[in-house]
Amino acid sequence: MTEAHRILYAQEADLDVAEFRRVLIESGLDATRPVADEPRLKRMLSSAGLILSARRDDDQAGRPLVGVARCLTDFSWCCYVCELAVSASAQGLGIGKGLLDEARRQLGPEVSIVLASVPEAVGFYERIGMARLPDAFWYRRER
Ligand SMILES: CC(C)(COP(=O)(O)OP(=O)(O)OC[C@H]1O[C@@H](n2cnc3c(N)ncnc32)[C@H](O)[C@@H]1OP(=O)(O)O)[C@@H](O)C(=O)NCCC(=O)NCCS
Repeated sequence: MTEAHRILYAQEADLDVAEFRRVLIESGLDATRPVADEPRLKRMLSSAGLILSARRDDDQAGRPLVGVARCLTDFSWCCYVCELAVSASAQGLGIGKGLLDEARRQLGPEVSIVLASVPEAVGFYERIGMARLPDAFWYRRER
């Protein structure tokens, strides 16, 4: 992708499952997300309270989705970013940071943002100034 087109950030409660799936695959996140299970992907979208999209501002191409941040939040205290994914052709252009900046802008200063990184993205979160949580705990999902 060239940088000729602006990136539009928006909240998209009704993000299409096929577009979501495509960006998961194009970002490489399909290795850890259930892209073959469409009903589960639909539930992931329908139950997420905050879905942020990054689209290329190209009317002729139908404003293609190039990035997504799917979040669970109470809009009051905390927000968990379930996925942050940018299509490989659009990586390195500031879109991942742009999506998290948009989440911070929409959620405001009362809301903390937390997430679990894949190993390959740890350097990105460090680079954009997120702090590590040394005392986070979880029960792993079984499938
Ligand atoms: C990780 C990801 C979301 C980053 O989004 P991106 O749009 O490519 O990153 P940005 O262009 O916003 O990068 C912001 C800064 O972080 C740096 N950066 C980006 N990816 C990095 C990485 N993997 N490691 C270290 N630094 C990274 C950029 O060079 C940039 O630095 P700069 O401020 O000096 O220019 C994206 O590459 C991606 O979707 N990767 C595959 C899926 C994934 O790992 N998602 C995260 C799941 S937890």
